[in-house]
Amino acid sequence: SAEEKISAAVDERELQDAKVFYLGKKGKLTAILKNMKDVPADQRPVIGTAANTVRAAVESFIGEKQAQLKAKRLESQIKNETVDITLPARHHKAGHVHPLDKALRKIMESFVRMGYSVEEGPEIESDYYNFECLNLPKDHPARDMQDSFYITNEILLRTHTSPVQARTLRRHEPNSPIRMIAPGKVFRWDNDATHSPVFHQVEGLVVDKGISFADLKGTLEIFLKDLFGSDTKIRFRASYFPFTEPSAEVDISFASRTHDEGGDPDWLEILGCGMVHPQVLSLNGYDPQQVSGFAFGMGIERIAMLLYGIDDLRNFYENDVRFLEQF
Ligand code: PHE
Repeated sequence: SAEEKISAAVDERELQDAKVFYLGKKGKLTAILKNMKDVPADQRPVIGTAANTVRAAVESFIGEKQAQLKAKRLESQIKNETVDITLPARHHKAGHVHPLDKALRKIMESFVRMGYSVEEGPEIESDYYNFECLNLPKDHPARDMQDSFYITNEILLRTHTSPVQARTLRRHEPNSPIRMIAPGKVFRWDNDATHSPVFHQVEGLVVDKGISFADLKGTLEIFLKDLFGSDTKIRFRASYFPFTEPSAEVDISFASRTHDEGGDPDWLEILGCGMVHPQVLSLNGYDPQQVSGFAFGMGIERIAMLLYGIDDLRNFYENDVRFLEQF
């Protein structure tokens, strides 16, 4: 009966039940072995030997069945876990570099090749760094050039990356040479098709002994031709910024662009720049008698629009995949 019951077990649980039924503490065979003391002494050897033979047989049935069930379980496991390598692969969409970041990377590469370091400053800035130590005292009319988001009387969202000029000057040993760019977000109270309240700039600052306007012109010419191609035309126009003197705005034009009827190429304003105002040097621990410098600031959105032919600023901020996946 044990042989029948064991071979009928369809899984390891049923086999375990059968094992308990015969060999467990209250099992049938166990009971016989326990009662050996009640068997008359002359019959004990015969019955004892028979009981032990049966026990050995039952154990071997169980062992065999166990091996069988285990093999069966393994087989079905292997079958179920098979990977069908002929199935088409799942397609994972890779992300794209945002066009603003792509433009920024190009700008950074160009300056890093020229030996510039990359600096950063806080987006939440003090009035002091954003204006005052850039030669813009409290009553300065040019503060109106930039519509600011103030948080308290003294704290605002920076309106340009120029405060990083002041912070970098102060981090350096006075009069030691500096060659840095500083990219980042800036904020102005403006919102229409061509202005976003948050946009991006890259600041540049070079200070050393004997830096001249010629160095500024040469550097920006190399940079702009690197960025937009060697046929790019560049024009400096006199301008005004409180932190540079003299100041200029730079326009670019492409040979391939259309000319107006007078034959003048179309000029596009691309950045502001100038020689660092002596007052800015001295306000930030440098001696304008010993060193001079130039600075520049450009909007990354404008550059990305020109590089990639984007005509609406809002494309940058809407995160529409149909736009983003083109880059
Ligand atoms: N900070 C100026 C702006 O945001 C740009 C600039 C930077 C001009 C450095 C001159 C020198 O308009």
